[in-house]
Amino acid sequence: MIVTADPHVARQWTVLTSVTRRVAIVPTMGALHDGHLSLVRRAHEIADEVVVTIFVNPAQFAPNEDLTRYPRPIDEDLAALRHEGVSLVFLPSNDAIYPPGFSTYIEPPAVAQPLEGLLRPGHFRGVCTVVLKLFQIIPAAVAVFGQKDYQQSLVVAAMVKDLDVAISLDVAQTVRETDGLAMSSRNRYLTTDQRRRALCLWQSLSRARELFNQGQRERCQLEAAMIEALKAGRPNGVDRVEYAVVVDPQTLLPMNTIDARAVALVAAKVGTTRLIDNLILG
Ligand code: PAF
Repeated sequence: MIVTADPHVARQWTVLTSVTRRVAIVPTMGALHDGHLSLVRRAHEIADEVVVTIFVNPAQFAPNEDLTRYPRPIDEDLAALRHEGVSLVFLPSNDAIYPPGFSTYIEPPAVAQPLEGLLRPGHFRGVCTVVLKLFQIIPAAVAVFGQKDYQQSLVVAAMVKDLDVAISLDVAQTVRETDGLAMSSRNRYLTTDQRRRALCLWQSLSRARELFNQGQRERCQLEAAMIEALKAGRPNGVDRVEYAVVVDPQTLLPMNTIDARAVALVAAKVGTTRLIDNLILG
């Protein structure tokens, strides 16, 4: 496995390898868990060589967010990627991505505006900018993202389409703990009690699915049931509900009538940790 911090080495390796081999890129911020490793495994299924990038992107964190405390267990990450048969790990410094004088940012597409876009202003500007840069440095044939960051996958898809970026996208299913909690690098912040209460996110989504499968199509009813499950009689629930919505799976906007398909999305704080999750209905 090649490990490089040098964008020129990463680019040259990808360009040369792509002549005969299909290359997949899996962009990450490290602190890898089974969810990330499932993306790597998916990448192996659809490509010949897999490149993983590890970069905690400061441009997608607001000043009050967890950039400095974001976990960076790099030795463990590299051992896991070696075990998964990754060909190249690109591990750039901040300066390699944002050199002095850097001033060009992507204006994110419309689907970036609701939900995370409202609660985390500037987040998708940072995501789009770094993802486009990573696609330029590593011109792979396909990129694999996780459905756990549902809005992010729609935002990247719209950017790729709008800017004619020559890459296909593959969105892999969310990997969950046995009790249903979506795997996330941020789960490692949770105390035992918070870990127990974090399960309310999954219970809220499961409740929406249960009602949807019973025929409930009133958005307000579905959302009210999700909020109730998130609160779970306060001391057992999350500390703050940021959103719990059932929306159009493509635009993320509320639908007048919910028909065959919708997506339920939740964001909540447990202690100081912000967690998100989602489930397709129908
Ligand atoms: O999903 C993530 O881990 C990040 O948002 C990404 C796509 C690696 C960009 O920094």
